[in-house]
Amino acid sequence: MFLMCPTDLLHVLLRQVIRKGDLVVDATAGNGHDTAFLAEAVGDRGKVIAIDIQAEAIAATRQRLLECGLESRVELHRTSHAEMGKLAAGGSATAIVFNLGYLPGTDRELITQAETTLQALAASVVVLKKGGVLAVICYPGHPGGDDEAAEVLEFLGGLGNFRLAKYELLSTNRPALFLLIAWKKSDK
Ligand SMILES: C[S@@+](CC[C@H](N)C(=O)[O-])C[C@H]1O[C@@H](n2cnc3c(N)ncnc32)[C@H](O)[C@@H]1O
Repeated sequence: MFLMCPTDLLHVLLRQVIRKGDLVVDATAGNGHDTAFLAEAVGDRGKVIAIDIQAEAIAATRQRLLECGLESRVELHRTSHAEMGKLAAGGSATAIVFNLGYLPGTDRELITQAETTLQALAASVVVLKKGGVLAVICYPGHPGGDDEAAEVLEFLGGLGNFRLAKYELLSTNRPALFLLIAWKKSDK
């Protein structure tokens, strides 16, 4: 498609900020698509901290990384992203990525929850470097996803030291997924 969907646009935008050797965080590893992209982007001197609460997701991500030969660049953690502050130092990450919702291919019983998502976003604000990017893909069309999306938008919109952008495709049948990019201002 000529028009880019937000999940693809995310990678295009991230390529502009991630440099070889950087530390980045994938807060929802899922099936490992974003983790593998990030591992490629940071190069062999960089590191990805990839988090997911489900064992199934961690296993799927590990398998994808092994197939791509990228496993040495990634630390996998089976825990809640609300614990991110224990896994990465303040001001250390160039990019932090959330792809909310459920693990594709599963029964959708376990989806991200607004309460823990907001805790994780608060931790991200601390872990992110100045000039770094916090990216969140929200799914308002999923049950429960509409409230979560609204809370995420309100939280990010209230951050004083960030510039915020929202990207979505118009004219879809149900509330469209959208991408939020919060860019932490640098001192320059
Ligand atoms: C849409 S999927 C992520 C897709 C993934 N980025 C990819 O490229 O395949 C959402 C993931 O969030 C995970 N998740 C839900 N609650 C979580 C939490 N509190 N902490 C970390 N991961 C969570 C789910 O297990 C699921 O795998």
